[in-house]
Amino acid sequence: MKPEHPDHLMNRANRPTFAELERHDAFVERHIGPSADDQRQMLAVLGFDNRDALIDAVIPPSIRRRDSLPLGEFTAPRSEAEALARLRELACQNEVFRSYIGQGYYGTHTPAVILRNVLENPAWYTAYTPYQPEISQGRLEALLNFQQMVIDLTGLDTANASLLDEGTAAAEAMTLLQRVGKPRSNVFYVADDVLPQTIEVVRTRAQPVDIDVRVGPAAAAAQAGAFGVLLQYPGVNGDVRDYRDLAAAIHEAGAHVVAAADLLALTLLTPPGEWGADVAVGTSQRFGVPLAFGGPHAAYLAVRDAFKRQMPGRLVGVTIDAQGKPALRLALQTREQHIRREKATSNVCTAQALLAIMASMYAVYHGPRGLRQIAERVHRTAAILAAGVRQLGYALANDTFFDTLTIESGTRTEALHEAARARRINLRRIDNARVGVSVDETTTRSDLADLLALFAETASEAPALAGVQPGTVHTQSGAPTLDIDALDASVEDTLPGALLRRSAYLTHPVFNRHHSETEMLRYLRRLADKDLALDRAMIPLGSCTMKLNATSEMLPVTWPEFAQIHPFAPASQTVGYRKMIEQLEQMLVACTGYAAVSLQPNAGSQGEYAGLLIIHAYHASRGEGHRNVCLIPASAHGTNPASAQMAGMQVVVVACDAQGNVDVEDLKTKAARHADKLAAIMITYPSTHGVFEQNVREICEIVHAHGGQVYVDGANMNAMVGLTAPGQFGGDVSHLNLHKTFCIPHGGGGPGVGPVAVAAHLARFLPNQRSVGYVREDAATPAGNPDGIGAVSSAPYGSAAILPISWMYIAMMGACGLKSATETAILNANYIAKRLAPHYPVLYSGAGGLVAHECILDLRPIKDASGVTVEDIAKRLIDYGFHAPTMSFPVPGTLMIEPTESESKAELDRFIDAMITIRDEIRAVEQGRADRDDNPLKHAPHTAAVIGADTWPHAYGREQAAYPIPSLAASKYWPPVGRADNAYGDRNLFCSCVPVSDYA
Ligand SMILES: Cc1ncc(COP(=O)(O)O)c(C=O)c1O
Repeated sequence: MKPEHPDHLMNRANRPTFAELERHDAFVERHIGPSADDQRQMLAVLGFDNRDALIDAVIPPSIRRRDSLPLGEFTAPRSEAEALARLRELACQNEVFRSYIGQGYYGTHTPAVILRNVLENPAWYTAYTPYQPEISQGRLEALLNFQQMVIDLTGLDTANASLLDEGTAAAEAMTLLQRVGKPRSNVFYVADDVLPQTIEVVRTRAQPVDIDVRVGPAAAAAQAGAFGVLLQYPGVNGDVRDYRDLAAAIHEAGAHVVAAADLLALTLLTPPGEWGADVAVGTSQRFGVPLAFGGPHAAYLAVRDAFKRQMPGRLVGVTIDAQGKPALRLALQTREQHIRREKATSNVCTAQALLAIMASMYAVYHGPRGLRQIAERVHRTAAILAAGVRQLGYALANDTFFDTLTIESGTRTEALHEAARARRINLRRIDNARVGVSVDETTTRSDLADLLALFAETASEAPALAGVQPGTVHTQSGAPTLDIDALDASVEDTLPGALLRRSAYLTHPVFNRHHSETEMLRYLRRLADKDLALDRAMIPLGSCTMKLNATSEMLPVTWPEFAQIHPFAPASQTVGYRKMIEQLEQMLVACTGYAAVSLQPNAGSQGEYAGLLIIHAYHASRGEGHRNVCLIPASAHGTNPASAQMAGMQVVVVACDAQGNVDVEDLKTKAARHADKLAAIMITYPSTHGVFEQNVREICEIVHAHGGQVYVDGANMNAMVGLTAPGQFGGDVSHLNLHKTFCIPHGGGGPGVGPVAVAAHLARFLPNQRSVGYVREDAATPAGNPDGIGAVSSAPYGSAAILPISWMYIAMMGACGLKSATETAILNANYIAKRLAPHYPVLYSGAGGLVAHECILDLRPIKDASGVTVEDIAKRLIDYGFHAPTMSFPVPGTLMIEPTESESKAELDRFIDAMITIRDEIRAVEQGRADRDDNPLKHAPHTAAVIGADTWPHAYGREQAAYPIPSLAASKYWPPVGRADNAYGDRNLFCSCVPVSDYA
């Protein structure tokens, strides 16, 4: 509501009510780009009187949702301030205890310069995955630094950037070794001191691909007849073991070794690559990334040279640009999901780029000496604590440790936990007779004193510790009077001498130059300036939904009540978190029309995999576990077949017709042919061709009639919220990408959240996590889900700390706002399609020539006529200041444009103008007015160095190259490198930091 005229101030009859002036719905207009007036103009271009008429023409009536989104208390929108206040109430129901739980998650200080200039900086968090290298050199450099850091610390040859969490990284290592390893064995041996959540994720992953996971003492690994062995270094209970002989014996037995290693400990310990590990995995969380109730955090995976072409995930590599200068780009597997599909090495697509960037910057900022000092302090803290508790009469179960002590607490265990609780401290509950304490870089002298005091309080013997009596704590103004320095003087460091690290690490200049805050700030700014993110221009990437990531949505992520909670903190301390999560689950239930949702999967790919495991579990529960055929249309995103393969299913491809729809006749034939074994179909809706297929209900019915389940890939949910729902038109399972439709930023390639949503009959199979006692209790499954598929992520709620982003979005939009967003997304896409159609043919459209929320431009005829390729156009758009649309997916030789609802008409017009001007440039080539090889498209993008060079070798002018439209004079983005040569980089694979001299 907007006051019509200021006259209302004089005229009481016209004046708005107080309720109207409160503007609870103010955010809706902030999120949606085009104003009401803009929308009227756009609708006129399309020939519609109003938006409702357009939507009626686009969405098949048979699937149209007629109810209002059943959002309960979230039906009405809340203003930004109101939503933040409501969320704050929930956050305050969490209790932030000091955590010594460890088990893979540690306290850490996020350096303020990184917090503000990376995590809270839209230049970093709104960037897309660096598929277009020329506009991504900043984040590619940061990710290359991550790889170099991991290579150095693990002592292995190649590292990726990045994986989703430690558990899934270990599972990826297992399947990697299965591909390269001893063909006769299907045993993967896991040491019994591996993190319990990792063991659980590995077990879940192993089962469908017939890997037999055996858990036992590390010492017995060589005799297990396994193809691979997983060791934890240091072990979950703190032990630091020398695995040299064991690794040699395992190799002797023909198996390979994976080390799950703690990066901070590796600054002091012999790295796995030096003691014989073939693969190293782990998390980089404690390098400046908050605990975050379990995520998001970046995991790493590093391998020996021989395995580098088998690696899962994204690998940044060095290549050259058109001028022969070094340029970075994603190497090898970049588009593996698109190209190799069911033969892909893994289904990982969205990873944890933003968190990997943070961790790499932590290493850049502290440098090798700083990191070593932090590690030494952590170790000394543990050593002082060990000496203290021993003096108090406790025995330690581990003689060696880096940061973790296992204390034999016997009958005092409960009393210890009780005393800890009174001090707002969490210790690790190992069992009834032992507690675990893991210290970290945040543990201070006074924390140490507190810990000692609590052990003193519970000690049964008279303590020998100066200044402490059992049952009492001597404090002065709250601080315990313990002589930490005396204890310090008395302790020996307990790292085994033979394991002390001798090799250097982080010697590259990048890790040694930016230790002052001024230098660091400028380095971060320099890198951010190289990149094009949503804070500069629209990113019209089809299938990726690069919409607004509102600041109000981002603020809660770093609130301590969300950021500083350990994933295995007692439930009594996470009440607010769990309420927020439950509310978000219900919001997503309302949006999808399903019965229950799990937020555990931490990317769309993981949601797909979880969904397929759920389908398998359902069939198995009905005695039909043999059903393993998964029908997948030819147009599917590559993660679909890759996930099906991981879930142990056999992929059968269904053809698409000339309009890009599922070929129903082919579907009928294949469903009938495989009826006995049909497990599922995976369809994307609206289709990856950007069309609402009219016969989606029929497709679902055909599959159901043959005993299969319907998986609807929900990556395109942005075209459905409030208008139609997969759970209502025949779907049984979907994953959503909260990092698309529900506003979690893409972070330069992650984090993501890929919730899996299911119909009622599948709710009892949703993921759980038995190792930490997490069994869901859904409304749909009152008894909880002991039948769940197990853990698909290390933490029970996956990337919990970014869930407030989606919660805020839905709370601020309300039911009407969400529907309005979907309608505007459809309007924006159709406006672009209509205006560009005279210049570029739109490949697919539905009823009335309309598209859904994205459109595909067919550039193949242009290539035939002019030699100008999709890539040339994509790169030329950079000269105009735009990120290219999605290239050659799902159809080679095309561009897929998705504007989203957040782009204003002005920005859409700017993009359309750029595309039309580019078409004129192409026409000049077609008509012989421009040279076929020497034209601005073929040489795009143009760097400032090229434009400013003394010599200009081209047939076209500098101005046309750099300023093809006048508006660029006011604001120009300069790509830092020319066109990257992908083939050169793949032939000469080099994936670590280049000497600085190469950039000269
Ligand atoms: C249609 C579709 N399905 C699945 C995915 C996989 O999602 P994620 O990248 O979060 O793993 C994508 C991602 O781009 C997608 O576009």
